[in-house]
Amino acid sequence: MDITQFSQINPPQRLLMGPGPINADPRVLRAMSSQLLGQYDPAMTHYMNEVMALYRGVFCTENRWTMLIDGTSRAGIEAVLVSAIRPGDKVLVPVFGRFGHLLCEIARRCRAEVHTLEVPWGEVFTPDQIEDAIKKVKPRLLLTVQGDTSTTMLQPLAELGEICRRHHVLFYTDATASIGGNALETDAWGLDAISAGMQKCLGGPSGTSPITLSDNMVDVIRQRKCVEEGIRTEAHSDGSEEMIYSNYFDLGMIMDYWGPERLNHHTEATTALFGARECARLILQEGLDNGIARHKLHGDALLAGIQHMGLETFGNLQYKMNNVLGVMIPQGVNGDLVRKLMLEDFGIEIGTSFGPLHGKVWRIGTMGYNARKDCVMQTLSALEAVLNHLGFNTVQGAAMQAAWDHYRHGSC
Ligand SMILES: Cc1ncc(COP(=O)(O)O)c(C=O)c1O
Repeated sequence: MDITQFSQINPPQRLLMGPGPINADPRVLRAMSSQLLGQYDPAMTHYMNEVMALYRGVFCTENRWTMLIDGTSRAGIEAVLVSAIRPGDKVLVPVFGRFGHLLCEIARRCRAEVHTLEVPWGEVFTPDQIEDAIKKVKPRLLLTVQGDTSTTMLQPLAELGEICRRHHVLFYTDATASIGGNALETDAWGLDAISAGMQKCLGGPSGTSPITLSDNMVDVIRQRKCVEEGIRTEAHSDGSEEMIYSNYFDLGMIMDYWGPERLNHHTEATTALFGARECARLILQEGLDNGIARHKLHGDALLAGIQHMGLETFGNLQYKMNNVLGVMIPQGVNGDLVRKLMLEDFGIEIGTSFGPLHGKVWRIGTMGYNARKDCVMQTLSALEAVLNHLGFNTVQGAAMQAAWDHYRHGSC
């Protein structure tokens, strides 16, 4: 092998304005360049405890068991589902996009009896629709997605916790795409479990999934407690129910590792934890409400610009996430060519779409470190230039002016 062919990593400059990942905040990158520690070094366990406290703030919860799963957002989803679902359990999944289907698939792998409720992509569910389905199905768990990035829609969750309590249903949501940019109140909304990801509004790289578990959910998981041979002592006893069918994602073991016993499980992904800690510090220093307002300001400025460019948007705007917008690709315009020119000539990435929306919708994000005025203005000007170049004529300058006007009347 000629090793000289492999140069040092030096990625091209990109402005990531898709549905995530986005450019990481430089403060997060700096935290991630810190030297490693041994995982039981008191300095390291202190950082782990700080991470638990910080993410209680991010999730708006008092939940003791608020911690990180090492792996991307999907690892957090899988850890919660495989730990909570026993084979044969009924689960109800309201599906309004690709990530609802992902919950169904993971639940099926956990041998759940999966029941779904569907609305067309671009819409969300009313609480009544969900309650009616709960009455019919009588599930043990309700599995929801808060913000389904595939459609850009945000499912209102505030009323669902009360419905779940009344029907003795455990309530989970995947907040990967929404946390930090949209309201999420774990305790006030009665959520039993949430998993999230770093690479959207939290402003970090993917690779860590923060989760939080209610006391109810912890009781359910503890009933399946298991301690590995080789580290168990006579003081340990197993739970009354069958063990969780994954070792890596066994939340009982992961709690024992993050808890005072510090029972050995995986080797901590120290660098990722340092990054996640900085993401939480960033968001709490800004203030959760200020962060949400910032995402709304820049999301609305982008929306104003897109509308004044003469483009149609996708989905019911009343339920749009603050941090991502679906834009209909105009008739006769090659959507992939637009993305290619924006990347190659402007260094800006915008997103394509999945499934039924593929080739029809672009997704443009304004989130985390990139929820900023300069990013919105650059993206609008590049998109307008590329569209005009390809023969889709706009009133030149109108989009930028509309976004700019929005900022003059906004407050961040
Ligand atoms: C809502 C939602 N859930 C889950 C995922 C999966 O995340 P990851 O790719 O980090 O595993 C994504 C990724 O975009 C997402 O948007």
